[in-house]
Amino acid sequence: MRVLSGVQPSGALHIGNYLGAIRQFVGLQDEHECYYFLADLHALTTVQDADRMRKLVRELAAGYLSLGLDPGRSVIYRQSDMPEIPELGWYLSTVTSMGLLQRCHSFKEKVAQGVVPSHGLFAYPVLMAADILIVRSDRVPVGRDQKQHLEVTRDIALSFHATYGDEVFTLPEPLIQDEVAVVPGLDGQKMSKSYGNTIDIFGPEKPIRKRIMSLVTDSTPVDEPKPTEGSALYQLLKLFAPADERAWVERAFAEGGTGYGDMKKRLFDYFVATFGDARSRYDELMADPGELERILLAGAATARETVAPLMDRVRRAVGIR
Ligand code: ADP
Ligand code: TRP
Repeated sequence: MRVLSGVQPSGALHIGNYLGAIRQFVGLQDEHECYYFLADLHALTTVQDADRMRKLVRELAAGYLSLGLDPGRSVIYRQSDMPEIPELGWYLSTVTSMGLLQRCHSFKEKVAQGVVPSHGLFAYPVLMAADILIVRSDRVPVGRDQKQHLEVTRDIALSFHATYGDEVFTLPEPLIQDEVAVVPGLDGQKMSKSYGNTIDIFGPEKPIRKRIMSLVTDSTPVDEPKPTEGSALYQLLKLFAPADERAWVERAFAEGGTGYGDMKKRLFDYFVATFGDARSRYDELMADPGELERILLAGAATARETVAPLMDRVRRAVGIR
């Protein structure tokens, strides 16, 4: 089975990205043929500063590798190193109806958040369909928020098949992990870089600790039992506690006697235990940009070989070259 997914280099990686996406990417490498890329062309819809873009791409590449994506087992590449992707995106855009894109929640949400509604932002799902269809991926591991984009991808593929009478594409299915469908942020809303409520994975320890300590909780006194319903602290503790500490989490909430401050300190300890090794590897990788670049270029060379036969068939189907 072929698996593909990507993350935009549009901000620092946070634990929502890890639990909702990257942890799954890592696990799939053992059994499947995996393609993981950095969606830098997509990120241009929100990041429009060249130095910042270069920095974010380097950070995401170091994040991928230090969290366990392995260039020996997966093909890891940068979207912009594959000119075939925007080329396919254009062919697809000519068989995509405006109505299909107008229905996309993610476009509407981003505009509501204040992102400028450029043509690129509107056409974002078409480029995403090209990312997915070009490697003929069967499964696409993503968070729940991306489910509609997978439906759109299938619709676009079917529309191409109907228009040209050639079933070139594989219809992909999303792979969504239910138990961590949405990781809450510091304020209890979905953790997202656009809400400024993230716990980042990399970067100096002190500010991360400070952010964890700033997690929003209610005003239940220390010695009383604490409500778990709607508590972001509870959910995060459950997601990060090692197996032998889960009972402690339950007790701390149910029995009272443990203050929120102590629980937050515990969450920070779990964070360090979970990401300590990855954080050291990240620092080493960030110190060697040449190596990161070499890995990305090698990945793109392999991916370009993979997509060549499909691109030939697509061009023949539409009558270009
Ligand atoms: P953000 O919302 O911070 O901008 P992205 O949209 O770049 O994050 O998401 C990258 C990947 O991480 C996607 O697969 C997305 O579904 C997943 N993801 C992001 N935030 C969360 C979250 N809070 N819970 C679960 N998965 C998430
Ligand atoms: N839209 C995805 C996100 O915001 C990123 C992405 C771009 C992607 N192309 C993709 C994810 C292809 C999976 C497959 O998270």
